[in-house]
Amino acid sequence: MSKIGIGVLASGRGTNFEALVRAVRRGNMNGEVRVLIANVPDAPVLKRAEAEQVPGVTISHRDFKKRAEFEQALVAELRKHDVGLVCLAGFMRILSPVFVQAFENRIMNIHPSLLPAFAGLQGMQVHEAVLAAGVKVAGCTVHFVTSDLDAGPIIVQRAIPVHEGDTAETLALRVLVEEHQAFAEAVRLFCAGRLRVEGRRVRILKHEERETKDEGATIG
Ligand code: GAR
Repeated sequence: MSKIGIGVLASGRGTNFEALVRAVRRGNMNGEVRVLIANVPDAPVLKRAEAEQVPGVTISHRDFKKRAEFEQALVAELRKHDVGLVCLAGFMRILSPVFVQAFENRIMNIHPSLLPAFAGLQGMQVHEAVLAAGVKVAGCTVHFVTSDLDAGPIIVQRAIPVHEGDTAETLALRVLVEEHQAFAEAVRLFCAGRLRVEGRRVRILKHEERETKDEGATIG
């Protein structure tokens, strides 16, 4: 069976990208990270791509007048690398239907909260909002991307307790450890053909169910 090509979009630091590349290799998954696209020139994630020997490309949204043109450039680059799964790993741009429809049910995003709580925020804003709300449990979510921001079908979630005395920074670090695990798990399930989107829900198929999948409904 030929491997599923994975393309990662990122904007900054790139720990999720790095963890994903390593998990895909180590986990002997039926997938392969083929390209990293950064929308921010000189983003640290590009250095990580180089170190991991994954082709890194910069496509800056600032070089395009229209969002659709930027997204078409992303799609073209991903197609060039024969990508069948797109992972948003700290990608700080909202994607319109132009992009989402090109990879329907084939785009995953990692979000640093237990969605649908704290949707629509990014990075440290999320952890600050979590602490301000006084919730006792935090975590992360991997979900399929739809045109509704942070609202697509949920694939994997991992929860951790919020500690007395947590700051946004300490909480972010503990959630990040979970993010790396959750993203790897979601990609592993996708590559094994074990994810089925049923309306707003994602069903995780057992191995034996996977054998009898009806083509088209199951992805990966
Ligand atoms: C991660 O915490 C990720 O969940 C978050 O940005 C960080 C990127 O870190 N993404 C969002 O907030 C998306 N709304 P990384 O660059 O080290 O992977």
